[in-house]
Amino acid sequence: MTYKKIKEDILYAGMNDKDRLIFDELIPLDNGTSYNSYIIKGSEKTAVIDTMYPKFTQEYIKSFDENGITKVDYIIANHGEQDHSGSIPAMLEKFPEAIVVTNAVCAGNLKEMLLVPESKIKVITNNEELSLGNKTLKFLIAPGVHWPDTMFTLLKEDNAVFTCDFLGAHYIFDDVFAVPSKELEKSAKKYFAEIMMPFSLVCRKYVKQLKDLNVEMILPSHGPIHKNPSYILDLYEDWAGEKGKNLVLLPYVSMYQSTKEMIDYLAEKLKEKGINSYKHDIVDDNLGDLAIALVDGTTIIIGTSMVLAGPHPAAYNTVYLASILRPKAKIASFIGSYGWGGNLFGKMSEMIAPLKLDVIEPILVKGKAKKEDYEKLDRMAEEIYIKHKVLGLV
Ligand code: FEO
Repeated sequence: MTYKKIKEDILYAGMNDKDRLIFDELIPLDNGTSYNSYIIKGSEKTAVIDTMYPKFTQEYIKSFDENGITKVDYIIANHGEQDHSGSIPAMLEKFPEAIVVTNAVCAGNLKEMLLVPESKIKVITNNEELSLGNKTLKFLIAPGVHWPDTMFTLLKEDNAVFTCDFLGAHYIFDDVFAVPSKELEKSAKKYFAEIMMPFSLVCRKYVKQLKDLNVEMILPSHGPIHKNPSYILDLYEDWAGEKGKNLVLLPYVSMYQSTKEMIDYLAEKLKEKGINSYKHDIVDDNLGDLAIALVDGTTIIIGTSMVLAGPHPAAYNTVYLASILRPKAKIASFIGSYGWGGNLFGKMSEMIAPLKLDVIEPILVKGKAKKEDYEKLDRMAEEIYIKHKVLGLV
């Protein structure tokens, strides 16, 4: 556990989890993550904002004694997911006088998921305030980033906002304050792609709210603290924006190189037209890199070999992931190769239908692409070019 004084009477009490290789059993982590909890010592009351991932509960609870914190009056739960709320039951044992403070939706989750007794929960409403004496907490209910139970806690006197998952990053650090770097930006973007991108519209609303409040410090519950809030708010404004970049994503799986040759050819043709592309080997490349590219891509062309009578399962998995992450892409199609027959694109087309993409005629080839197939790829590249031009991207 790391304790660090952030400002007078604001303590960081967090943990770098260097060994965590994957989050939500979905996207690999580059270098683990951090779980941040905060302690606010008011002149009359002490509040803890978010707690700890259950794996580290013992260490977390012990750290209060080690750091001389003998009294906790309020445990603020900004979100019910257990990487932040998981240590609440142990906290209530350690500090029996403490009350959990949260919104109604999160209260329901804490009762269901952690069996927190109703009598130990104080339910607050949007904009409600809680006095700690010389410090005041104000609760800003912010459903949808990324659960329906989320809220932010504003420490009024310091104009500092505790945003839990929102504006966070799976990132470990020695100094708790963010130092802008390519590495931090990549971590925050990957985190945004997996956790926040499906809720981009809601993200835009809260970015504006925090900008309008002119907050001076952003303290998320994963990743470093932002003393320069515009750094992360501006990045979110871009990532959550409606307009993609002049970028075509080419995720592919190819058993005998026929599909890969078509993907390579298409990438070259796009390059000749001034369009960037990102080729992603679905089997060998890091899924996190594809997630990052999904934040920016305007077009997605999926390449797949046929396995038995349908798409390769890895391609199917990628299409499903892309469909639930709800990227800002506007255009899509498929390229594939088969040996003896089947339906290569039918199910994948159904899967992306809810995204309401502009679908270009797919290209299906038996074995290797021939002259007429390369002509189809030329036409696909031209069609993408025209559509990107209409969108003002080239
Ligand atoms: Fe970091 Fe939604 O939990």
